[in-house]
Amino acid sequence: MKHLLDTISLSRDDAISILDIAEEMTQVSDREVKKLPVLRGRTVVNLFFEDSTRTRLSFEAAAKRLSADVLNFSAKGSSVSKGESLQDTIQTISAMGADALVVRHAGSGTPHRLAHTGWIDVPVVNAGDGTHEHPTQALLDAFTLRRALGGFAASGAVKDGPRGRGLDGAKIAIVGDVLHSRVARSNVHLLARLGAEVHLVAPPTLLPWGVDNWPVTLHYDLDEALHSEDYAAVMMLRVQHERMHESFFPNEREYARLWGLSAARLAGLPKETFIMHPGPMNRGFEISAAAADSPRALILDQVENGVSVRMAVLYRLLTGQEETND
Ligand code: NCD
Repeated sequence: MKHLLDTISLSRDDAISILDIAEEMTQVSDREVKKLPVLRGRTVVNLFFEDSTRTRLSFEAAAKRLSADVLNFSAKGSSVSKGESLQDTIQTISAMGADALVVRHAGSGTPHRLAHTGWIDVPVVNAGDGTHEHPTQALLDAFTLRRALGGFAASGAVKDGPRGRGLDGAKIAIVGDVLHSRVARSNVHLLARLGAEVHLVAPPTLLPWGVDNWPVTLHYDLDEALHSEDYAAVMMLRVQHERMHESFFPNEREYARLWGLSAARLAGLPKETFIMHPGPMNRGFEISAAAADSPRALILDQVENGVSVRMAVLYRLLTGQEETND
């Protein structure tokens, strides 16, 4: 594995190896001194051409916990605003000695381009490209689910938990703006590969072309979908206003009424169904405060686990090892 560009081409073995390394990394994060010396002297460059809070901070924390040096680049306030091209930006950064690039860009496919144009020859990690993929988000979601569902079935060892089966056969509902969501796309491919049964719940206007070929069950009505199965988790998606150039639903009130995880819908779910959201949340819109703050919301676990999962990804890509030797 040279790069992490998407989950559609991530093998089950590589995915499980990342989740297993992340499990070891959580132990580092629990220590008083949260550092491993494994990437000492290496430089990880975070290239963020799009806004981000948690993903950028999470990659920065991950690299620092592995003792790497971190250079943060955000397009706002850089020479990109003066018209510098992607190629010149990348080659400038390369000249400064990057050992890995973490890239977020509004253009779908930009990380693939960086990995394959020859402008720079280091591992590239996709931190979200347009409406395409966000593989580390899907990995941290899978990791969070695997832990919450109590079971490491995929790698053999089963731990205690409410179900004890991990992701194998777990029904996961992903609800909302699938069309514009790189989180949904990455999760569909990864969760399916790890043995989960994925259900997409969305208005037809917010589903992409070609969704019929995805390994999912489709629902066009949230209440029907929530009553039809016992889900291990319901993952709500943010409505991506910044990517909407047409109107995909009548108005916000209507969307919240039909597609929001309201207090009433939360109350109707089985007690052991977990609630997830990649953040940032639009409270009162796609998710109610009652759902976001409920004890079965895994939203902060997702953020916390994000650091361990990104440590695992950087470790795999920069050392080529499948286990930590610590
Ligand atoms: C997601 C993203 O940027 O794709 N957020 C994140 O990385 N945690 C989801 C979103 O913005 O809705």
